Amino acid sequence: MTEANTQPEVNIGLVGHVDHGKTTLVQALSGSWTDQHSEEMKRGISIRLGYADATFRRCPGVDEPECYTVDEECEDGSASEPIRTVSFVDAPGHETLMATMLSGASIMDGAVLVVSATEDVPQAQTEEHLMALDLIGIENIVIAQNKVDLVDRDRAVDNYRQIQEFVEGTVAEDAPIVPVSAQQEVNLDLLIDAIETEIPTPDRDPGESARMYAARSFDINRPGATAEDLKGGVVGGSLVSGELSVGDGLEIRPGREVDEEGQTEWRPLETTVRSLQAGNRDVETAHPGGLLGVGTGLDPSLTKGDALAGQVAGEPGTLPPTREEFEMTVDLLDRVVGKEDDESGESDIEDISTGEPLMLTVGTATTVGAVTSARDGECEVSLKRPVCADEGAQIAINRRVGARWRLIGVGTLA
Ligand code: GTP
Repeated sequence: MTEANTQPEVNIGLVGHVDHGKTTLVQALSGSWTDQHSEEMKRGISIRLGYADATFRRCPGVDEPECYTVDEECEDGSASEPIRTVSFVDAPGHETLMATMLSGASIMDGAVLVVSATEDVPQAQTEEHLMALDLIGIENIVIAQNKVDLVDRDRAVDNYRQIQEFVEGTVAEDAPIVPVSAQQEVNLDLLIDAIETEIPTPDRDPGESARMYAARSFDINRPGATAEDLKGGVVGGSLVSGELSVGDGLEIRPGREVDEEGQTEWRPLETTVRSLQAGNRDVETAHPGGLLGVGTGLDPSLTKGDALAGQVAGEPGTLPPTREEFEMTVDLLDRVVGKEDDESGESDIEDISTGEPLMLTVGTATTVGAVTSARDGECEVSLKRPVCADEGAQIAINRRVGARWRLIGVGTLA
């Protein structure tokens, strides 16, 4: 790749228990969280689903893995060469942000699971996040055993074995486990080496129609902007297929809710792509990988405050249908994962029953659905907010258990 070509080409989820060091690790790999996006983008995007880009580099004439770095200058003072820019999606570890984590999962090509060497394995979200990767089918995984600077050798080895035992039989069974210290920047070369091997850039067909999952949307105008300065609404998200160029037509579904004579219906929005931001700059054409900011001709009031988060955008006429209700086949987990001992609620997962509310994540959309009919292994739901999804789409199913929404299984749109 050339120095100018810094648009990220792959999305890597950063998952793991709270405080195990995800943010510190991303900082170590990418320089800093800020400066990644222009002021307009920065104002909102990294809050709920954080993205940070990192360019992996190689020092010429140095053996693997020592050759890998994120610094522009090698130890001997020579210049390093860029290999690949990746985008890290920082899934929050707190609370019930499992839904956000799962929305991220639909745009992740692989994941780094961060596990602290200072605590027993697994901690609640370590288990919960691994289960989500397993369910959603994210197979390209690297495990970073972090904070090894805080433990002695015996503890580190014990903890390493606990991780091995914990991932046995899961999607991460063969994932490499790399001991690192994000804070002391130890073994980052080994970690980059593992990511380069385990999480390759997927083969993509630029001729496919463009499909983008919106994760955020905003009005970037300052209060009091004059009519001629007013900029159209901005949609932030990830392209999962095809390419998008300035000037392209864009359809966004489900679109907006229109109320006519007491009847409400959802109407798709149509506009054009006026500007594109990918990596940290303006581009004419964007491809999948990283976070994309799409400037549109839409009235900014339509995109304000994440109004279009969870919607799907693409070439007009190519998007999946909008569904206000659907039927899905259901695969339930055996028990609730990631529950702390002192939390209330049942640990066993009962069958889904007619009338119960479920929180469903479809792509980047999260919506509450009421179960209108439940049979063995199947159910029909009526949604509070419609989603745009193809037959076969994967759906994360959450149920209220105690005070939180808990992942109870995965569905497939029938
Ligand atoms: P959440 O975003 O809250 O889920 O946390 P996180 O997983 O992003 O953890 P974060 O990076 O904020 O790190 C938590 C604390 O651990 C901070 O005080 C870090 O400085 C510290 N920390 C992270 N990595 C290391 C490490 O390798 N060694 C040491 N000694 N401390 C670390």
